[in-house]
Amino acid sequence: MPQGDYRKALDTSFVHRYSHGEDEWSWDVGMIQAAQAFLERLDPHGDQHVLDIGVGRGRDASTFILAGHRVTGLDIVENSSWPLLRKRWGDRLDLVNKAMQDWQPAPGTVFDAALDNGCFHHQHPDEWGPYLAHVRRLLRPGALVGLNVFGVDDAHPEAGWREMDNQRQGYFFTDAGIRQTLEAHGFTWQGLEVIERQHGEARYLLALVRT
Ligand SMILES: C[S@@+](CC[C@H](N)C(=O)[O-])C[C@H]1O[C@@H](n2cnc3c(N)ncnc32)[C@H](O)[C@@H]1O
Repeated sequence: MPQGDYRKALDTSFVHRYSHGEDEWSWDVGMIQAAQAFLERLDPHGDQHVLDIGVGRGRDASTFILAGHRVTGLDIVENSSWPLLRKRWGDRLDLVNKAMQDWQPAPGTVFDAALDNGCFHHQHPDEWGPYLAHVRRLLRPGALVGLNVFGVDDAHPEAGWREMDNQRQGYFFTDAGIRQTLEAHGFTWQGLEVIERQHGEARYLLALVRT
């Protein structure tokens, strides 16, 4: 599917899932574990400015704020949790209704770290390059980046696209494949955490890299 059409399909799919309460990932223990593993590697002195790419209902953003950090969360869908999150966290949380690839922050904005918990693997392959290049541009040198993506398992060991709902696709990576993808886009490999996925088959792979 061409890139522009896929963007619309992705938007339709996520709008539908959030508005029908079918965003089961928002309560997925595996995604909570991924955010926890990322948080454990953040500078413990607090007040890091974290970019949460595909922030969803703000579960991870709230965890990071409680740990003393500040968060900017991006998402293509503004869901029903956002008004309460804004009220609760005030200036510790900036929620922006924009696609990662398109967003231009205020001049001079530099992030200390970024987490993409389940967003990158849904992007059109033609956007992988611009998306990752943009993430790198927004971060300070040496910043921690966590990308939690679908990983293949023994039952379905082939890497590739799998159809989800409303034409949304998910790319399932091998351990070597996610490493290769991130290194090819200029990130420095730090390690991989394999996490059990609560909903659906396969696993999550939390790839940890630095700019
Ligand atoms: C599987 S959900 C995960 C949400 C959240 N990170 C969590 O762990 O609950 C993926 C999220 O990414 C958002 N998204 C998809 N493509 C995006 C893009 N290009 N830029 C920003 N957000 C995007 C979706 O709307 C959705 O909220």
